[in-house]
Amino acid sequence: MIPVVDLKAQYLEIKDELTAAVNQTLADGRFILGPNVAALEDEIAAFCGARFAVGVASGTDALHLALRALGVGPGDEVITTPFTFIATVEAISYCGAVPVFVDIDPATYNLDVGQIEAKITPRTRAILPVHLYGQPADMAEIMTLAGKYKLAVVEDCAQAIGAEYKDKRVGSIGNIGCLSFFPSKNLGGAGDGGMIVTDDEETAGRIRRLRAHGSSRKYYHEEIGYNSRLDELQAAVVRTKLKRLENWTAARRSRAGLYDTLLSELPGVKRPATGANRTHVWHQYTIRVKERDPIRERLANRGIDSAVHYPLPIHLQPAYADLGLVAGAYPQSELATTEVLSLPMYPQLSEKQVTYVCRTLAVAIERPIAVK
Ligand SMILES: Cc1ncc(COP(=O)(O)O)c(C=O)c1O
Repeated sequence: MIPVVDLKAQYLEIKDELTAAVNQTLADGRFILGPNVAALEDEIAAFCGARFAVGVASGTDALHLALRALGVGPGDEVITTPFTFIATVEAISYCGAVPVFVDIDPATYNLDVGQIEAKITPRTRAILPVHLYGQPADMAEIMTLAGKYKLAVVEDCAQAIGAEYKDKRVGSIGNIGCLSFFPSKNLGGAGDGGMIVTDDEETAGRIRRLRAHGSSRKYYHEEIGYNSRLDELQAAVVRTKLKRLENWTAARRSRAGLYDTLLSELPGVKRPATGANRTHVWHQYTIRVKERDPIRERLANRGIDSAVHYPLPIHLQPAYADLGLVAGAYPQSELATTEVLSLPMYPQLSEKQVTYVCRTLAVAIERPIAVK
């Protein structure tokens, strides 16, 4: 079976260094906010081109604490996409604020920026774009609107670490960028983890405090906070992988290029499109096809795993029934949920495997092509 993501192959590539890093941490005995978290914060800040980074317990917490630090609370509205992983929207709900959805651009799956302004009200506090599948959203337009209406911008970079928009890395464009170290992410740990990046010292300080029970001095608490620290073992694992990230991203790009070439001959398959002035880091290589589910099954029968990101938009999830939004409210997001198909994508995926996936896909959609 060719999996969608192969963490075993990744492990085998870095086994010795990873084991040494974990053993060193175990021997050191400092498990909470020790040297690895501090070093990783410096390394990620530098990597993203931001002044500060603060490690937290997950990407979800990064989003939640980012909105808290900005003072988002009950009565506020935050504009985001319904075509995302639910964590993006949960973070808004945790603050007692209301998510206000804007439909996606069907070509890139990111926020359709032309529809944002109509959704801005006096209660809007922030815009929360998601750089879906590893491609930056239209940040120039988003930042212009944010400036015009004095809104904060929190970037959900969970899938897009290292992606660039006009030569700036995601996370360093809005007020705060949120990263996830979920194991299958481009830069993943061996468990949950996340980080925020920002240029604003006060925001970084507030998040540093919020992650540690609202305290900046042990046993003195300025506010009610959370237990949301990135732990040392995760930081040690993530640091080991960060050294490879540029190479791994290059490998993802090369596999995406090969998919693009081989699938260009295949009618009925819509390949992913990359917008102008940005680079894609290919967290997912996601195509669009009609009759997706039978195609998926045929791929599985021939040893190829695939995934659907995502099968139900957030506004139609039972968890968000209270918003009272019905089918038809966000047509492009709804259509995408029925057509998107993520093919195997990870740095260790071989060219031979990509070729096999494409050849099998041609058979699965019953339009054989000459892929050798
Ligand atoms: C777009 C997006 N936002 C947020 C998250 C939440 O990150 P985590 O799983 O680290 O909490 C994820 C991934 O899981 C994600 O894909």
